[in-house]
Amino acid sequence: MAGAELFGQRFGAAPAGVWSAPGRVNLIGEHTDYNDGYVLPFALPLRTTVAAALQDEPQWTVYSREAGETVVIGSDDLMPGRVTGWAAYVAGVLWALREAGFPPPSARIAVTSQVPLGAGLSSSAALECAVLAALVELGGLDVPREAWPRLAQQAENGYVGVPCGIMDQSASTLCRDGHALFLDCRHGTREQVPFDLAGHGLALLVVDTRAPHRLVSGEYAARRAACESAAAALGVAALRDLDRSALPGALARLDEVTGRRVRHVVTENERVLDAVRLLRAGQVRAIGPLLTASHASMRDDYEITVAQVDTGVETMLAEGAYGARMTGGGFGGCVLGLVEHASVDATAAAVRGAFAAAGYDDPHCFAAVPDRGVARLI
Ligand code: GLA
Repeated sequence: MAGAELFGQRFGAAPAGVWSAPGRVNLIGEHTDYNDGYVLPFALPLRTTVAAALQDEPQWTVYSREAGETVVIGSDDLMPGRVTGWAAYVAGVLWALREAGFPPPSARIAVTSQVPLGAGLSSSAALECAVLAALVELGGLDVPREAWPRLAQQAENGYVGVPCGIMDQSASTLCRDGHALFLDCRHGTREQVPFDLAGHGLALLVVDTRAPHRLVSGEYAARRAACESAAAALGVAALRDLDRSALPGALARLDEVTGRRVRHVVTENERVLDAVRLLRAGQVRAIGPLLTASHASMRDDYEITVAQVDTGVETMLAEGAYGARMTGGGFGGCVLGLVEHASVDATAAAVRGAFAAAGYDDPHCFAAVPDRGVARLI
């Protein structure tokens, strides 16, 4: 077991437990979570593993194999800004637990991850959720699993300083294998929607474009701020409160750019609801046009795509994909395409060929199968 061995090598003892939490792809519903809207992510088999044990010293000793570094976090460090880099996500979880009235137990923690960093596959949520699970269970803290996504999001919002929504932490915590998670981000209600790709002879091809995706950069925060000020100007609590029939009136009251941002969110929420209806009815291929429409909306209205992701989408569609879109926060990262299972290799080869012809970095392609959320392994 990789996590236990890593802990043993680093700390010379066996861990008390090993936990792992997944990265995710979002099937549809982008930039809707912080607008109180709908999302439909599923968990990836790529996971972050945390092996941990209590320690007597009043501190947290955290080793990351990928960073090749040990960081010691003291209780004085549980103030936003004190710990930076990868360990900030760990310190953020400690901080969020303490702020919520659940002092985390002192621990040694060894981390290793299969989730690529900066690819838009939620490596940060995977780390937060795995660490959170370990601390809650090691400390016997009375924090139900339903509360974990909000705590992990608070770690990221309040400590790391990324104003993300609730989707990634919810996916990493609550997803089930073979299903996508339909989440209403206002009410927290959720439904596990069957997403049996193989049973339909399908595959979801994910292309990591390797175009660096920079969530911490100001663009994500700028989109979120634009949505919040548009909602205020329109007199609604959140853009979730607008449906398509309200769009013409809303657009007439907003400047052109803000209007397009609002149109993306309103139409994207509608596409999530449509996709869920189709999946419930077992019409998996029929969600394809919704995926492609989502991409056009992100490209033209929300303006969060880059040349590599557009090329990835266009190539998959030209190869016969039922639909394709960028997934995740944007400005790089990953693209997904719904394809016949038998077409995975040819589609991936076509995307790599198109990237080579355009002079882009060689993308990493893999077929994604919905996996389970955070779990204790040992
Ligand atoms: C990032 C954020 C999420 C969500 C997506 C866009 O992944 O962490 O909360 O806003 O971008 O849908």
